[in-house]
Amino acid sequence: MSTGAHAVITSDFPRWDRELLFEILDNIQDVVLIIDSNTTIVYANEAYARILGVPVTKVLGRRLDKIEPEAEAIEILRTGKPTKGGDYLDSLGIDVVGSSFPLYHGERIIGCVSTFKNITEVVELNRELQQTKGVADYLKEQLEQSEQLPLSFKEYVGQNSRLKETLLLAAKVARTNSTVLILGESGVGKEVLARAVHNSSRRTDKPLIKVNCAAIPEDLIESELFGYEDGAFTGAKKGGKLGKFELAHSGTIFLDEIGDMSLTMQAKLLRVLQEKEFERVGGTKTVKVDIRVIAATNRDLESMIEKGTFRRDLYYRLNIVPLNLTPLRERKDDLLTLAKTFLNQFAREVGHELELSSQVVRFFLEYDWPGNIRELQNVLEHASIVCSNKTIEIQHLPARVIPNNDEYSSVKDRPYAVKETVARVEKELILSALVANNNNRTKTMKALGISRRVFYDKLLRYGIG
Ligand SMILES: Nc1ncnc2c1ncn2[C@@H]1O[C@H](COP(=O)(O)OP(=O)(O)OP(=O)(O)O)[C@@H](O)[C@H]1O
Ligand SMILES: [Mg+2]
Repeated sequence: MSTGAHAVITSDFPRWDRELLFEILDNIQDVVLIIDSNTTIVYANEAYARILGVPVTKVLGRRLDKIEPEAEAIEILRTGKPTKGGDYLDSLGIDVVGSSFPLYHGERIIGCVSTFKNITEVVELNRELQQTKGVADYLKEQLEQSEQLPLSFKEYVGQNSRLKETLLLAAKVARTNSTVLILGESGVGKEVLARAVHNSSRRTDKPLIKVNCAAIPEDLIESELFGYEDGAFTGAKKGGKLGKFELAHSGTIFLDEIGDMSLTMQAKLLRVLQEKEFERVGGTKTVKVDIRVIAATNRDLESMIEKGTFRRDLYYRLNIVPLNLTPLRERKDDLLTLAKTFLNQFAREVGHELELSSQVVRFFLEYDWPGNIRELQNVLEHASIVCSNKTIEIQHLPARVIPNNDEYSSVKDRPYAVKETVARVEKELILSALVANNNNRTKTMKALGISRRVFYDKLLRYGIG
């Protein structure tokens, strides 16, 4: 309610007339906007045009509830309560901060005055700052969690022809912005490949943010992915929190174990993938992001679609460039090279050289490796610790994988199993020759002294590809 004018008359200010007051209002640096009780805009100062980029003549006489129905001034006409703080103008896409108060004539509200400034740049800078801070926290957390350095394609161990094909495709798609879906059994190196794709993409200097969809509880996944506003739910951090999608802005988001996401979340994810925009939990403002998506799973998504546990439309969205990683048992030609890489690594850790006995090599080539490369790595780590000298023998392997028959104890124990033994030794020889000749087949068959036809025959028979 009006409390009367706080003004006096002096010789320089003989009178406080309309023109003088308008001149003052026009020169105020913040926007001053006045509406009447119908929300008709009755006054806007010059700062309005300068700050909002809209000529004053275009808005004078128009109704604010038609232009900006969510504006606080409209609410004030109803409540009579002055407000202070930030607001977002949907019609112009800018963030503002200021205050608004009602105008009274007697007891009746006849209008509302709003003064505010454009703080879009500040909000943007703040968002960048929050992102940088969030990414720094995330990377710190990751560093603490893993001792693994990211591998790029060059360091990706593997000569197998099917794997090479996958890697070539991966290198090709890495340069684009396409969504990549990495499929393969547990431990085949899906994450390693995801990092390689990111590292050889144009976004390599930008963050690669991993989300393990299987590890986040259902009720937290939405806020993990999209972030939340201040006070969105009990237990929420003050000031809100950025979600993984915002942290990944301008970089890559790696959605690991995508097959373990609930149908509700799948629907939300689909929208982000399609529109590249979302709202934070408890927020109304739409956040736009520029992200590259890499997803991975060891699940059979197609059979999940059949069962109705995975959305077909999401699958099509993700399955633009599928990269299939071959299980280790189907690329045994890489097994010894991989083993060598890991042995060198563990040899440095235990402080002495390490090698595999011929029995262990034979066992490795026959074993199924359900846990793939990760299992190989773990088996060798275990063995390198248990074995106190150079040669790793069968008994140094973890009990869970040690074959329980005596087949591996010694060839001498079963001197008459000629066929089996010959086949095993032959397969072993071919694999070692392939490794020694860097998978060059012509050189390998020469080294083995066999013809091309016999050589390919044997590759087929022993499942070496
Ligand atoms: N080509 C490779 N060269 C060297 N090490 C590898 C290679 N591929 C995978 N590894 C190692 O094998 C382990 C498993 O790899 P990764 O975590 O990428 O597998 P994954 O397919 O994501 O497994 P999961 O399905 O269980 O999540 C890691 O320790 C990784 O460093
Ligand atoms: Mg993984």
